[in-house]
Amino acid sequence: MNIFETLESKTNIIPENYKKMTTQELENRVREVKAKLGKKLYIPGHHYQKDEVIQFADDTGDSLKLAQLSAENREAEYIVFCGVHFMAETADILTDRNQKVYLPDMRAGCSMADMADIYQTERAWTKLQEIFGDTIIPLTYVNSTAAIKAFVGDNGGATVTSSNAEKIVSWALGEKERMLFLPDQHLGRNTAYNLGIGLEEMAIWDPIHNQLIFDGPAENVKVILWKGHCSVHENFTVENVKSVREDYPDMNIIVHPECRREVVQLSDLAGSTNFIIQTIEKAEPGSAWAIGTEMNLVKRLIAQHPDKQIISLNPNMCPCLTMNRIDLPHLVWCLDSIEKGVEQNIIKVPDEIAKSAVQALSRMLEIS
Ligand code: 13P
Ligand code: SF4
Repeated sequence: MNIFETLESKTNIIPENYKKMTTQELENRVREVKAKLGKKLYIPGHHYQKDEVIQFADDTGDSLKLAQLSAENREAEYIVFCGVHFMAETADILTDRNQKVYLPDMRAGCSMADMADIYQTERAWTKLQEIFGDTIIPLTYVNSTAAIKAFVGDNGGATVTSSNAEKIVSWALGEKERMLFLPDQHLGRNTAYNLGIGLEEMAIWDPIHNQLIFDGPAENVKVILWKGHCSVHENFTVENVKSVREDYPDMNIIVHPECRREVVQLSDLAGSTNFIIQTIEKAEPGSAWAIGTEMNLVKRLIAQHPDKQIISLNPNMCPCLTMNRIDLPHLVWCLDSIEKGVEQNIIKVPDEIAKSAVQALSRMLEIS
């Protein structure tokens, strides 16, 4: 079933009765199914999930940790992934064939992952090979489709997450003269810049117009950035940084590397979701922080650290809409269908794609 068929399929729409249940009823039901299925059921939860869902996660983590945990878990028959589509695909690729991965709401995609499809990628690759010959290694952020991971795996590259990006990019540039980084231009640019690559050595690949954007001779290009971005992290702006600096001169600003280069440059610290959480945990009581990342996580950090002053870098920030699609009613619906043996909301990457994609993921896990 392709994504459009999936979205249109009535079997993927939650029945009305789940929406009428009280929070208490829903929570009791999750506890009941968890107790009944025991270790057969495993619920990983990404840090950007809502509290109502994350409270039931067996493990929480950023995308790297959740990929590592999926690769290690061999006992769960049912993996109910509380995160977004590409994370559930990654879990399916890294687990055994007898383990089934479920996504409680099939509409929980990722707008960044949607900014690169395999046809655009193959088309870009052909053109880039014409310009640069066999000098490019492809890397893809895990926030991408399984088909793109497979393409990257087949072409000698690896996947990347925000917490291992510097390691993987350094490795890649030891393998080939230049790299293509999909699909997040900001993570690619921020990481390459931190490794000493100048902005004048970075080109942009525009997948809509199928063209390379670069001023200067092509041989100067070291990094080709796919023109994609996260619609959540792009909402942190230079104006937000300036207004925090003005209103709270002693506040530390920490942002995710999916933010634009200018925002990262003006902030005090930048790092993955995990880095942000650890930094806040280790911070002195009484310290003040403006955080530039997803709002469910920022709200949780505010609640967990009442001894610190924490605000969102953008006062008008919303949670990631697609992460937010996984809510308590969808979790209960998914658990109920597992208990009844109904086959729905299963994420299954076709074998031939999984076989190639696992190469890219394994290279990442080895280097991390
Ligand atoms: P990390 O979990 O790698 O920090 O990625 C953030 C993100 O955008 C997940 O969708
Ligand atoms: Fe995708 Fe951004 Fe949401 Fe992460 S926060 S799932 S990158 S849209």
